[in-house]
Amino acid sequence: MFSSYKNKIAEWDWYDLKQVSSTNDSIKELNKDKLPAVISAKEQTGGRGRCGRKWYGLDGNLYFTFSLKIARQELSRYVCIIGLSLAKTIKNIAPFIDVKIKWPNDIFLNDKKVTGILIENIADDIWAVGIGVNIKASPEIKDMPYKATSLKENGITSERSVFLRQYLEQLTLDIKEYQEQGFTYIREQWLQMALNLGKEVTIKNGDTEKTGQFLTLDENGYLILKREDKEERIIAGDLFI
Ligand code: BTN
Repeated sequence: MFSSYKNKIAEWDWYDLKQVSSTNDSIKELNKDKLPAVISAKEQTGGRGRCGRKWYGLDGNLYFTFSLKIARQELSRYVCIIGLSLAKTIKNIAPFIDVKIKWPNDIFLNDKKVTGILIENIADDIWAVGIGVNIKASPEIKDMPYKATSLKENGITSERSVFLRQYLEQLTLDIKEYQEQGFTYIREQWLQMALNLGKEVTIKNGDTEKTGQFLTLDENGYLILKREDKEERIIAGDLFI
């Protein structure tokens, strides 16, 4: 692991590995005194997605996980910030592209998913933030209501290491902005890029399904769903239209 040490990106020590099962697992195996760290891998053989799904490993794509200290009561806001920074990174590279965030934090280009985020707990208030970015290729996903795409399919050229650095630098700026100015401005930016805002959506969480109008995000980053004239706060789930 240490022979793969590259250098620092913002506050994180960066390890770039050849092949791992899942970068989320690799960071959990790293000694706590090596954190904050970011682990990327050229190849990921057992990539995991949300809700027990698989994340496919394709050549040239970016797989990485970094550690982040987040107090539990702030987690839902950070879920928004982490996704917003990813959307902004793509927008910075390709300002002409219509980049959308699908709640809670998937990034979509032309109605197809290009990145995914899996946040897991390491210990106490230390979290593993795992991100997959389809840079060069996208898998054919069966049994899902949406398709996948890649940056390349949208005419966006990038390299995994370059994108990783750009993302962590953007995230550092956005976290600083949040800490100095609060969540309001982050929330506004997030809402400007939100997919399906104002539309009728269904949120699935385990066996529970709720359908209603996606009104907004609240001051905690929870989704506000309007159902029969009542507004409900949704903390977690998958959004479908
Ligand atoms: C999802 O959209 O379901 C989340 C996908 C998260 C995939 C990334 S790739 C790097 C990190 N390692 C994993 O095993 N998963 C995350």
